[in-house]
Amino acid sequence: MNHATPVSVVIVAAIAANNVIGADGDMPWRLSTDLKRFKSITMGKPVIMGRKTFESIGRPLPGRANIVVTRRQDYAPEGVETAASLEEAIRIGADRALSNGADTLCVVGGGEIYGLAMPLADRLHITHVLCEPDGDTVFPVINPELWAPVHEKRVEAGEKDTYPTRYVIYDKKAL
Ligand SMILES: NC(=O)c1ccc[n+]([C@@H]2O[C@H](COP(=O)([O-])OP(=O)(O)OC[C@H]3O[C@@H](n4cnc5c(N)ncnc54)[C@H](OP(=O)(O)O)[C@@H]3O)[C@@H](O)[C@H]2O)c1
Repeated sequence: MNHATPVSVVIVAAIAANNVIGADGDMPWRLSTDLKRFKSITMGKPVIMGRKTFESIGRPLPGRANIVVTRRQDYAPEGVETAASLEEAIRIGADRALSNGADTLCVVGGGEIYGLAMPLADRLHITHVLCEPDGDTVFPVINPELWAPVHEKRVEAGEKDTYPTRYVIYDKKAL
């Protein structure tokens, strides 16, 4: 947990070997097994996302407080709260987490919001997708001097998965 936030800030992302996370507003794979993991990691916790990721999902994620980061003051889709900065989103998310008895909030993308959130995060839940697709959105570099892998599991592609994956939890190193 960092000093500025009373709850842990975790990033949840699926990243290709070339750091690609998105293409044309969508993800360049279908990973049903990983969506189940995403659901179990985030359920009951506030989720923070950029406006483009929210529009790509197309609806609020159920069972979670949804906070959408946007510069648009008139943006008010049903079922979400909006925030004018990542810092404001984290403040709102921390309030929602504490009132729901959660000790964590999840930052779930996309590229712009991950870039802003990396310096504020305590933990990364990364699904390394074993492919190198074309794309237009990338995840920031995970600096091994700052982040230590603490759990790792290879997951073979199931029937509804386009690629095998390697799921890794990284914790921020105490410097
Ligand atoms: N692989 C994965 O795990 C994963 C996860 C999530 C998303 N994705 C993919 O990532 C792509 C979307 O990512 P993206 O980088 O294009 O967009 P994004 O991060 O989802 O959203 C960008 C938007 O966030 C708002 N924003 C950004 N910085 C801000 C700031 N400092 N203050 C206030 N608002 C700010 C702006 O919204 P306004 O324009 O409304 O002002 C901006 O257009 C899609 O392809 C999606 O499928 C992949």
